[in-house]
Amino acid sequence: MDFGHRVAPPQGLGKLEVDALVLVVAAGSADSGLGAPLADLLSDAVAEGDLALKKGKTLYLHRPAGFAARRVVVAVAADTAAKSFKAAVAQGFAALKGGGAKSLAVAWAGSGAMSDAHAEAAVLALADATYLYRHTKPSAPAPWAADSLTLICEKAEAKGVQTGLTRGAAIAEGVTLAREFGNRPGNECTPTWLGQQAKKIGKSFDLEVDVLDRKQIEKLGMGAFLAVSQASAEPPRFIVARYQGAAKGEAPVVLVGKGITFDTGGISIKPAAEMDEMKFDMCGAASVLGTLHAVAKLKPRLNLVCIVPTCENMPGGKAIKPGDVVTSMSGQTVEILNTDAEGRLILCDALTYAERFKPTVVVDVATLTGACVIALGHHNSGLFSSDDTVADKLLAASRAAIDPCWRLPLDEEYAEALKSNFADMGNVGGRPGGAITAAMFLSRFTAKYPWAHLDIAGTAWKSGTSKGATGRPVGLLTHFVLGHAK
Ligand code: BES
Ligand code: MN
Ligand code: ZN
Repeated sequence: MDFGHRVAPPQGLGKLEVDALVLVVAAGSADSGLGAPLADLLSDAVAEGDLALKKGKTLYLHRPAGFAARRVVVAVAADTAAKSFKAAVAQGFAALKGGGAKSLAVAWAGSGAMSDAHAEAAVLALADATYLYRHTKPSAPAPWAADSLTLICEKAEAKGVQTGLTRGAAIAEGVTLAREFGNRPGNECTPTWLGQQAKKIGKSFDLEVDVLDRKQIEKLGMGAFLAVSQASAEPPRFIVARYQGAAKGEAPVVLVGKGITFDTGGISIKPAAEMDEMKFDMCGAASVLGTLHAVAKLKPRLNLVCIVPTCENMPGGKAIKPGDVVTSMSGQTVEILNTDAEGRLILCDALTYAERFKPTVVVDVATLTGACVIALGHHNSGLFSSDDTVADKLLAASRAAIDPCWRLPLDEEYAEALKSNFADMGNVGGRPGGAITAAMFLSRFTAKYPWAHLDIAGTAWKSGTSKGATGRPVGLLTHFVLGHAK
């Protein structure tokens, strides 16, 4: 895919030679200074009732008179913000999907500004429109093969637009990688396979990638992580991947991703309905590796360490049982009251391991709790941090990336629920505030550095007829990491 921009005034849009031109109009906006043929087209379409200037509306035109473009789609945005622009561009691409358009152009039809955020948004909208999972369904019809995207902008906007295109392309690759990993079935996407994929990313970007096996994990004393993996025929892996873009001594950003390649719940087994979706329980890991790909591609001046504890959560004769007590790498003991609260058990040891990097900040990403889905639904990821600076940076990154998250509280009072008579803490705190008590559990292992936790249980994948991984929050994480560049 080629991404570029072209400086052209709105009057020049008729001369644009592309397979398809998507024209975005802000809702209700007057079409001033557009010139023919665009002004006529818009005013006629509105006057004749074929286009309402309301957000979400589109008008598809094949070989319209006065345009060199073979197809023109007018798409109406709520306003001129990048988020609204992205939604309109996505609608425009949806109208083109299935057609033969290969070279695409996107322009404002009106007074909207084209910023880096708009350019990035357009690239991500295209990546989304052209993504199709086929790995285990080769019979699926070939996806839409668009091959170039040109953004039309003013001269003063060109630099920002090119920056946005480059960043968008890197994020799009990271998102696609995360979706592809997430969508793989659990019998292929095993801990061993994830380790191999991390090595592959390392090879293509010349990164240091270590994949530790069970023996090495035992040596580190990761009693909580090993406990989760102990009933599975698939051996666990502990992945550590390092991108070095700054001086060796520069404190790194550390990302930790939950890599449960299948979560049966263990002895506290899950109900059968929708259990297949627990193959997505490694989407935190996938998003961390997708972010690593995007960052390595963009080569910012910073250091990044990505950590992925990965295993299966299975029942069986060797499985952990409710009431079992394990010793985490930190030395703190945990009473496993529910074997289905396994994510926090693998993450706590990874968070302790992260200490050795003397990180400037650690963010863990996990499909951690059904309670987070109840709290926030499928739109916002849950954000938890006792550090306001880190939380604000993540919120800002999430807005810039159009990858929303919402902060939830972490008051010490919630830790009450984790008290155990038999260990330093239990691994569950009951149903009330389940997403918060899970985050509270993790916070017990993060005393040595600034830390935040993202619960992506509601946002990492979609259910129903559009079942599949979303690649979120690669955008948020990439923006957050890039914010640490020198
Ligand atoms: N992977 C699940 C969380 C999950 C459930 C994500 C449904 C998305 C949809 C996690 O390991 C889990 O099972 N959590 C339990 C925790 C409970 C036992 C305290 C949950 O949310 O039910
Ligand atoms: Mn579980
Ligand atoms: Zn899980």
